[in-house]
Amino acid sequence: MMNTQIFSALAQKENGTNLGGRVIRSGGLVAFPTETVYGLGANGLDGEAVSRIFEAKGRPSDNPLILHVAKKSDVKPLWRHVPEAARRLMDAFWPGPLTLIFLKSDIVPDEVTAGLPTVAVRMPEHKTALALIRAAGVPIAAPSANLSGRPSPTTAEHVIADMDGRIDMIIDGGPCRVGVESTVLTLVGRPTILRPGGITREMLEPVIGPVEISPAVLNPLAEGETAASPGMKYRHYAPDAQVIVAEGSPRRAASLICREYETAEAEGKRCVILATEQTRGCYRDKRCDIIGDRDMPSTLCVGLFAALRRYSGEVDVIFAEGVPTSEQGLAYMNRLLRASSFNVIRC
Ligand code: TXA
Ligand code: MG
Repeated sequence: MMNTQIFSALAQKENGTNLGGRVIRSGGLVAFPTETVYGLGANGLDGEAVSRIFEAKGRPSDNPLILHVAKKSDVKPLWRHVPEAARRLMDAFWPGPLTLIFLKSDIVPDEVTAGLPTVAVRMPEHKTALALIRAAGVPIAAPSANLSGRPSPTTAEHVIADMDGRIDMIIDGGPCRVGVESTVLTLVGRPTILRPGGITREMLEPVIGPVEISPAVLNPLAEGETAASPGMKYRHYAPDAQVIVAEGSPRRAASLICREYETAEAEGKRCVILATEQTRGCYRDKRCDIIGDRDMPSTLCVGLFAALRRYSGEVDVIFAEGVPTSEQGLAYMNRLLRASSFNVIRC
């Protein structure tokens, strides 16, 4: 067990990020807030430091990491060159929840890319994250700061629950604004979303033209199929409870959930429903949690991981409504379907 220092970004602003920068430079691990989820950072140019991230998370070593930079020009030394599409996207969306993948340069260690010829880079939109990267003076390699397989952390408490005693330091910056991880877009070949997030296809296309969506976003990989993004291979976001997704119109999904809820309850199972503003009235006498508004899909994303953690081990079954996959609804369904291991019921 290590002694994990916990700093509040609000109370101890400079101290936390300055100390964090020194810890990163000397090869240590620091968890820090971003606008999406908390990251677990190490010096992204130091292969040995990066391999400690995999140990602390229990992450398979063939799943590559994102390098976090503090300004747009910091991407230059990390890629072979900066393609025109990337320039436009950085101008439109950085800092922000958009990760771009392109061919890597020689200074990026294989531990970061899991041996791939490409590297993922993003500039987060969070004061503390940016201050930490500047203090470190190097790009910070950071996956989400959860134990591998668990829902990503959106508060410092979530990070403490998973990482206390396993890393050097945690910087508490309060809850994350977006709540799901960044959109991952590859610019090698046709621009393709490998993981949907807060920056949507609808936002990207006016800037660079047609954007494809990897089939792995909404489907399980077939046996033996290789993932464009290795992260899609693994069971993800799994709480300690069964997750069941009901698809169909809001009212049909709700009545399906009510029926299944009653059956499960009769079998002695503890249940909860992740509902939406629009279906609030459908679940009288049942335990339910309003997760957000269907007409503003970004609101659904904000509290999803916190809800999965809250009910993990607390209930036996979590029912959730499927939503349309437009805008941030795509990110919501991508995470929800994985959390459920694609356990979907339809009318
Ligand atoms: O919002 C985020 O992106 C958060 C915060 C901390 O910035 N980070 C995050 O990292 O979610 P992680 O490691 O949990 O997810 C990175 C995803 C994985 O699915 C990984 O497979 C994919 O990006 N990825 C990274 N590098 C890649 C590459 N060169 N080619 C394809 N996929 C890559
Ligand atoms: Mg992750």
